[in-house]
Amino acid sequence: MNSRDDEVTILAIESSCDETAAAVVKNGREVCSNVISSQIALHTLYGGVVPEIASRKHIEKINQVVKEALVQADCTLSQMDAVAVTCGPGLVGALLVGVSMAKALSFAADIPLIGVHHIEGHISANYIENKDLEPPFLCLVVSGGHTHLVRVCDYGEYEILGRTRDDAAGEAFDKVARAIGLGYPGGPKIDKVSREGNPDAIHFPRAKVDEADLDFSFSGLKSAVLNYLNDCHMKEIPICQADVAASFQKAVIDVLVEHSMTAVQRYGAKRFAIAGGVASNTGLRAALAAACEERGVRFYHPSPILCTDNAAMIGAAAYYEYRRGVRHGYDLNAIPNLRLGERV
Ligand code: KG4
Ligand code: ZN
Repeated sequence: MNSRDDEVTILAIESSCDETAAAVVKNGREVCSNVISSQIALHTLYGGVVPEIASRKHIEKINQVVKEALVQADCTLSQMDAVAVTCGPGLVGALLVGVSMAKALSFAADIPLIGVHHIEGHISANYIENKDLEPPFLCLVVSGGHTHLVRVCDYGEYEILGRTRDDAAGEAFDKVARAIGLGYPGGPKIDKVSREGNPDAIHFPRAKVDEADLDFSFSGLKSAVLNYLNDCHMKEIPICQADVAASFQKAVIDVLVEHSMTAVQRYGAKRFAIAGGVASNTGLRAALAAACEERGVRFYHPSPILCTDNAAMIGAAAYYEYRRGVRHGYDLNAIPNLRLGERV
């Protein structure tokens, strides 16, 4: 161990989608640096993430981002106790850039290599600003690629209570935003425009999955919005962008809150957390905060910068993996469809 005996300092890398990120995290909860180079402006030109462009951009940025993370933390590579990296799920070419970089750094500095599950990272973002938060708790993970209702039984131990059967919540936000002319990335734009709209102006469906009441389905909602837009177009009725955005957002929030509270009640949870890009949605945060307060449940949420993709959350998750003795070899691979709880 390179830092003080009771301290574990980890250099963490994240490159699973469109952010090239590196961070230095101490003992899983103290962020010494958190550098994020976003490719959003580049992908906006194409209306969504182009995997090949994402990989190329990661290659261009990764050295600079890692160096910057060490500089901002006032550290050198030799002071790190381990290097951690997102190894899945995500875009395979994008993941490979981070995994290769982490392997090279681990070899050069002769420090352990730890592969981290991206969703485990999102959940662990909650540990950073809530020093008192410890498992067990329930967590709603809502990102561009995932919608999971998870029981965090212990550090690194998860039980998936519900998942989406089709589109992820963030994916639905992005597709609806494109359809109403808001562009990419849709989530933050719908969030903003919704504040000027009437959430009860249009009734969009709240889908239920009959045989699994904690599962989600958002593709029907997305189609309902598209049908509404086509109908207005054919009848030459003007579309109020803010009302469509607000009504769509309310439909998503209602389902997320209802399922979350069903799980809270079923499992007698006293703590409830949210994670992932959509967790920065102001309407969702307010609705969950109110629902949790009503039931005497403590509500946890990361700051918006720790909700969307970043490497500090990977450093937080890696610390508990490190403590469990997890070490990976140089055969660590990028696994695009890695499942939560699946060990590599
Ligand atoms: O967690 P994340 O950065 O990447 C994935 O792992 O997928 O999540 C990105 C997703 C995008 O779909 C984006 O539109 C959505 O999170 N998002 C939001 C908000 N900010 C980001 N969705 C709703 N409201 C927001 N404020
Ligand atoms: Zn993510």
